[in-house]
Amino acid sequence: MRELLSERKSRHLDMCLDRTMPVEQGRTGLERISLYHSALPESSPEEVDLTTSFLGYSLLLPLIISPMTGGSGKGRHLNRILAQCAEKYGMAMSTGSIRIMLENPEFKSHFMLKEVAPGVPVLANIGAAQLGVYPVQTVLEAVKSIDADGLFVHLNAAQELFQDGGDSDFRGWSRDIEALIRAADFPVLVKETGSGIPPAEGLKLLEMGAAAVDLAGSGGTDWVAVETLKAGSKLSEAECFYGWGYPTALLLLAYRSIMRTDKAGGEKLRGRIIASGGLRTPMDFALALACGAWLGAAALPFIRAAEQGGMEGVGQYVETLRTGITRAVVLSGARNLEAFRRSELRVPEDLQNEARALAFGTAQTAQTAQTAQTAQTAQTAQTAQTAKAVAESAATTGQHA
Ligand SMILES: Cc1cc2nc3c(=O)[nH]c(=O)nc-3n(C[C@H](O)[C@H](O)[C@H](O)COP(=O)(O)O)c2cc1C
Repeated sequence: MRELLSERKSRHLDMCLDRTMPVEQGRTGLERISLYHSALPESSPEEVDLTTSFLGYSLLLPLIISPMTGGSGKGRHLNRILAQCAEKYGMAMSTGSIRIMLENPEFKSHFMLKEVAPGVPVLANIGAAQLGVYPVQTVLEAVKSIDADGLFVHLNAAQELFQDGGDSDFRGWSRDIEALIRAADFPVLVKETGSGIPPAEGLKLLEMGAAAVDLAGSGGTDWVAVETLKAGSKLSEAECFYGWGYPTALLLLAYRSIMRTDKAGGEKLRGRIIASGGLRTPMDFALALACGAWLGAAALPFIRAAEQGGMEGVGQYVETLRTGITRAVVLSGARNLEAFRRSELRVPEDLQNEARALAFGTAQTAQTAQTAQTAQTAQTAQTAQTAKAVAESAATTGQHA
């Protein structure tokens, strides 16, 4: 078992680092959104301050390096490079899954990143699937033993289903996460791994007490693809599942709709949404922030930069992000990050409608989109109760009207 898990981690990492492997699938949809341009911006890049608060720390950049490695020699090495960069550039970061450390305590040093990144939040990470295996107390102690500032729980049902020997019983995940949050005296955050957390479930997690939700949509690293490629031709029927889930842009717009139109929902979401899934260019990160995300996050570009160029490579990438986000703030006329997170956006109507449907259920969306002529019918057809029922049923079943 020990070797199996370590070997699997190693294979995953090697495959993701191999640029000939088509591990990225689908589209984020961010190419369909744009910012408004100000021809008279009345600001300058020097004036734009990107610092932001997160888990009691002040970050220099609104960025977090998503959970990836630990559990292999190369993983340990890259993890430390990323942690050093997180500290140097003022970004948050997470370790990869600490499951391997729970099984083999000798791997603990792979996750001791706080010692190189004392000035920024460093999160531990574990899969929801493991919460049903290990007692809550064991998980809490493991997080504390590496001095992490909190725990990122990952949801990866699609990956598990397509992984050789993966878990396929997802019953009890919500219950286990809730029990963990109740018992923890540190922040617990929840993320997907590239299929996305729809708003009904994101809100449910926040209501349970999650400190933040990383919506982690599709369009970037695709774990169905990674597992399929890893298994060779055996799982080729899985290809029709590539890109499964909600594109990152759709999720961002759906959460944004709630933030802008639903007072109670908006209050729950503000400051607690992290965006990831295929964010690569400075504009991807800028758009995520402009949609209202508190932080932007990514995995693949950081690990590739670390492998290829070490600290310098990651530094160059981060500088590109800093400069690009700053320029977007200036050119959109926002002047500061707070205003930028409330940007008006140019969004095609079909995408906006789809996002509203995901946020509120089709009924309420119909109400919004209806012309004056048909508004009456739509109104009768749906009540706030219907929308709530749709959201609740979505939260239970993971399905969306
Ligand atoms: C090499 C590698 C290892 C990963 N391991 C983990 C992990 O241990 N825990 C986790 O929550 N996510 C893990 N992920 C998923 C990422 O955190 C992220 O959710 C996903 O890759 C989508 O983001 P991206 O498109 O920016 O890569 C891993 C990703 C990569 C590339």
